[in-house]
Amino acid sequence: MKKDYIFTPGPTPVPHSVSVAQSKMIHHRSADFGELFSRVLDGLKYAFQTQNDIVVFASSGTGGLEAAVANCFSPGDKVAVFNGGKFGERFVEIASFFGLDVIQVAYNWGESANPSDCERVLSENPDIKGVMLTHSETSTGVVNDVEAFGRIVRQTPALFVVDTISGLCAAPFKTDEWGVDIAVGGSQKGLMTPPGLAFVAVSEKAWKAVETARLPRYYFCFKAARKSFSKTPPQTPYTPAITLLQALDVALKMIKDEGLENVWARHELFARATRAGVKALGLELFAKDSSRASVVTSVISPDGINSGDLVRLLRSKYGIFIAGGQSKLKGKIFRLGHVGYFDRYDIIVQLAAVEFGLKELGFPVELGTGVSSAMKILYEE
Ligand SMILES: Cc1ncc(COP(=O)(O)O)c(C=O)c1O
Repeated sequence: MKKDYIFTPGPTPVPHSVSVAQSKMIHHRSADFGELFSRVLDGLKYAFQTQNDIVVFASSGTGGLEAAVANCFSPGDKVAVFNGGKFGERFVEIASFFGLDVIQVAYNWGESANPSDCERVLSENPDIKGVMLTHSETSTGVVNDVEAFGRIVRQTPALFVVDTISGLCAAPFKTDEWGVDIAVGGSQKGLMTPPGLAFVAVSEKAWKAVETARLPRYYFCFKAARKSFSKTPPQTPYTPAITLLQALDVALKMIKDEGLENVWARHELFARATRAGVKALGLELFAKDSSRASVVTSVISPDGINSGDLVRLLRSKYGIFIAGGQSKLKGKIFRLGHVGYFDRYDIIVQLAAVEFGLKELGFPVELGTGVSSAMKILYEE
């Protein structure tokens, strides 16, 4: 018998109570749906730490990124994208696709975006309309300093657009306090819900930009969403992903009950334990400032071992789903997720599996070394 464990940094494990909440169908023009949707919007405000309007779309997170660009900008607008990985690249791709004038500030993968670069680029280009940053760059494990960027961008007319798809409810994120104008989240990571929902928190500054923005949008329209959401009870312009919203409602209650500060602290603890386990095995972390990498731990695959082989072996033999490297990191790193519905035993199981897998692939492992280091940290807390 072999159980399946999903330890990827998205999709992430879904609690049983969240899964079963999807089993009933209600109609979206009913009072029951209105109550559900108001609760969900309130819960999302708590998750994003915002009083801003939140727009919900039935799409994966990328739809939220596309909506951010399409609703706030006009063709030829200048934007600066701070790009240190696959999801920074996605911002570049979407903005370029929509005909924006993209200044790309690229970092070596594994490095964090530097706020002083933001200061420089904004002072050299006072006509910049938007600054785009990835909160948790899932492809490398790096968590960027959104707060420091926010302090700089808020002093300019530019909109601060942040992808917190894997960071939300995992690493600290404070939309209002940090001056984030557009924050984009997704359901399938820290929110412990199946994939299929995107959320966008929109500030007053961003709503002003929406009024004059000329890029085309139809389904992904903030104004249409706000008009329906502000009805009593709130509605959606089109058929919503009803069952996913039911699931999200339960997950948001779990987050509220645990308390966001505790949720962040749990992620930080599990990241620390994972790092200790990995280092005890003699492996090297990929993220340069790994102390911030609380969402996913990226690990350099040992010499002579293709990380894809480790990922495949763990899946086929042990039922353990971890992630390999993406794009140019394919084969070179593996990523241990600890985002969302994780407890301390998941951390131990994941490290144990890595030990089994690496040993089988020929890397010298004294079984239990990584697990034991992680357990000491988990026990002490
Ligand atoms: C930081 C980040 N941005 C964007 C995305 C894309 O989200 P989706 O696959 O839900 O469209 C992901 C998914 O892994 C992500 O981690």
